[in-house]
Amino acid sequence: MKPLVTGGAGYIGAVVACQLLEAGHEVIVLDDLSTGHRDNVPDGARFVEGRVQRAGEVLDRSFDGVLHFAAKSLVAESVKRPEVYWDNNVVGTLDLLTVMRAVGVRRLVFSSTAATYGQPERTPIREDDPNAPINPYGQSKLAVDMAITGEAHAHGLAGVSLRYFNVGGAYGRHGERHNPETHLIPNVLLVPAGRREAVEIFGTDYPTRDGTCVRDYVHVTDLARAHLLALEAAEPGRHIIYNLGSGAGFTVREVVGSCRRVTGHPVPAVDQPRRPGDPPSLVASHHRIREDLGWRPELDLDRIVADAWRFLQAAR
Ligand code: UFG
Repeated sequence: MKPLVTGGAGYIGAVVACQLLEAGHEVIVLDDLSTGHRDNVPDGARFVEGRVQRAGEVLDRSFDGVLHFAAKSLVAESVKRPEVYWDNNVVGTLDLLTVMRAVGVRRLVFSSTAATYGQPERTPIREDDPNAPINPYGQSKLAVDMAITGEAHAHGLAGVSLRYFNVGGAYGRHGERHNPETHLIPNVLLVPAGRREAVEIFGTDYPTRDGTCVRDYVHVTDLARAHLLALEAAEPGRHIIYNLGSGAGFTVREVVGSCRRVTGHPVPAVDQPRRPGDPPSLVASHHRIREDLGWRPELDLDRIVADAWRFLQAAR
């Protein structure tokens, strides 16, 4: 196939671009490098620098589909600057859908998020559980999911939304390089790397087994593989939503424990107040994607941490 990968210079988009190339596909990356890195784009992919709004200059009938990663994705930033999220994530994707419709590219795999569920009433979360996002990031992704449903029903788009839970680990030379880094695992690993004294634990009074938040960590290698399955499986006129998580939940303290095990470093931790907007527990049911596409996660939390640690050490 010949897919366009928007956001293919970012962490997850670059890993998917690599796997597509390894599977023999022809890959074109569109990325404005606002948060991505030019050197993330894998050798063998054609690179076009530009915003998603410029997809019209790239896409034509020869493309088989679009994998759409390009987005803003920081919860706290979205609360401070919601307009940036509505513009990039919603307006950008609506423009992309318009271009795809105009040129007749009718297959889309979209990066959605567990943040659409807000504070879920039960875990594991299923795709038909209520959506009630509590921040503009989750709202913007949910708005796009709804737009894709309409596009599929009205205009025959073959759409798949993948709702990511907590993605980590590295694939080859591709790992997390966010600035600032807000995610738990890379932040914890800064301690054994000698770049921080201690990790901060945000909130120790949640109704969970040790008082810290529970999250579902999925390896970027496993997560990326689901995109190739979704691209192949997308059906005209249907929009299917799949959760992408391991199905297992770990507390923040358990993640810190994994980092201690993997690195052999004591990793001091300092308890802090809750971080605004954090739901106590987010764990996926991945039953639907397992049944429909045969996807299952293969790499566990220690492997996620080990690969993130290898990446961080190599990056120094
Ligand atoms: N945490 C710490 N210390 C840190 C960093 C994080 O204790 O230094 C805690 C957070 O408070 C949270 C947990 O670790 O309880 C995980 O935090 P992350 O920032 O790694 O990830 P989130 O669960 O907040 O975010 C993820 C995705 C978002 C998505 C969100 C859904 O990265 O894109 O899940 O809630 F929106």
